[in-house]
Amino acid sequence: MRAWSSFLCLALALLCACAFVGAQRGNRLKSTDASDIDRGLKIYEKSCAVCHFATSPEKKIGPGMKGVMKKPKFSNGWRVNDENMRRWIVAGGKNMPPSRLNAEQLRELLAYLKTL
Ligand code: HEC
Repeated sequence: MRAWSSFLCLALALLCACAFVGAQRGNRLKSTDASDIDRGLKIYEKSCAVCHFATSPEKKIGPGMKGVMKKPKFSNGWRVNDENMRRWIVAGGKNMPPSRLNAEQLRELLAYLKTL
């Protein structure tokens, strides 16, 4: 009896875990699909490419964006994550102008930056 109920518990837990992972994966697919990345690329070309290389980490006017979302930290010490990337883009830097992108454009731009 006891073994039976713990087996049930385990099975239930596994089911939950699977459902959770499945849902997460679904969300991710929904929040960044190919057309987001495509629109993000256009935004990048229009607003960022003058100062940032996309295909190299070398400096143009600002540092290259190749692999930027995979770095542990920005030059100012902030951890690299979605939130801080948005802050950077919105606020700008010493020699980087703040950009006036809306939430949707930021989401698309981030989707693109993650592919670099
Ligand atoms: C006029 C040039 C210019 C434009 C346009 C520009 N940047 Fe920058 N960016 C810079 C400079 C210069 C820096 C270095 C920090 C500073 O001096 O502000 C920088 C820094 C950054 C950093 C921090 C990198 C690090 O490792 O610390 C990120 C991320 C970034 N820019 C992303 C973007 C994105 C995304 C766009 C487009 C929305 C953009 N930048 C547009 C010039 C620019």
